[in-house]
Amino acid sequence: MIIETEDQVTEAVLSETQRIDDPRTKEIIQSLIRHLHGFAKDVRLTEKEFNAAINYVTKLGQLTTDAHNETRLIAGSLGLSTLVCMMNNDKSTANLLGPFWRQGAPFVENGGSIVRSPTAGLPLFFTGHVIDTDGKPIAGANVDVWHASTKGLYENQDPSQADWNLRGRFITDDKGEFRYRTIKPSGYPVPAGGPTEVLLEVQHRHPFRPAHLHSMVYKDGFKTITAQVYGDDDEILESDVQFGVTQNSIGHYVRHENEPAPDSDVTGPWYSMDHTLVLERGESWLPTPPVKAKSDVMATSMGAS
Ligand SMILES: [Fe+2]
Repeated sequence: MIIETEDQVTEAVLSETQRIDDPRTKEIIQSLIRHLHGFAKDVRLTEKEFNAAINYVTKLGQLTTDAHNETRLIAGSLGLSTLVCMMNNDKSTANLLGPFWRQGAPFVENGGSIVRSPTAGLPLFFTGHVIDTDGKPIAGANVDVWHASTKGLYENQDPSQADWNLRGRFITDDKGEFRYRTIKPSGYPVPAGGPTEVLLEVQHRHPFRPAHLHSMVYKDGFKTITAQVYGDDDEILESDVQFGVTQNSIGHYVRHENEPAPDSDVTGPWYSMDHTLVLERGESWLPTPPVKAKSDVMATSMGAS
């Protein structure tokens, strides 16, 4: 059609979606067009603002590399990651994936350490209990775990850490448990220097995430979950820059001052944490890894995430 009026634009674009074969794809594209056009009309987007928006979205792609994922980062800081997670996981303990899962972590026997190079921090012995929605343990599930160091950096951001430091893959035992030794992690600021920082600054938001441990649990017959557990002593649980803290993702660190640790080389204070992860029946699948490699650049303004 030859467009004459503003309102005819949306009509013209929607009319070109009629030949989409897949009904779900058609539904998504039509809704996207309606909302995108509706948004532009709602705010009466100016040409200068549209120009800035094009540059902003372009930057998301330009900054995304094998070792950094700006697009997934801003999805978290817009709350979209948690919204999609909660819409699709009402029975499980899923939490947003975040921008730092690497696929292929080395297998570690239950109880083993994921500290692969000298890493500051008090020892932490973590036990995860994987159960189904009836409360029965799930044995033989794969569990990828990953978290940041006390410098607030993941190993892929930090050349001073060994490859795969603070990452590992476990298999749940007959009791549905997986156990590992690590160090109690710290919170961290998400990366500066990109569109996410711009979003935070204009909102006068701080850039920090509360300390957390990531896991991804997958086994045939169960819907894969990514999960995070946050300590209940963290001061910024209510203002997580990624909106990740949900009620069922809050755990409790137990501090041990004068008790023998599971490993005899631990002499000072140490921590333990038990946390339960719930899976529901469904499809086992793996998301696209947000990052694939270690950065060879020491983290600076684009560093922590
Ligand atoms: Fe994280």
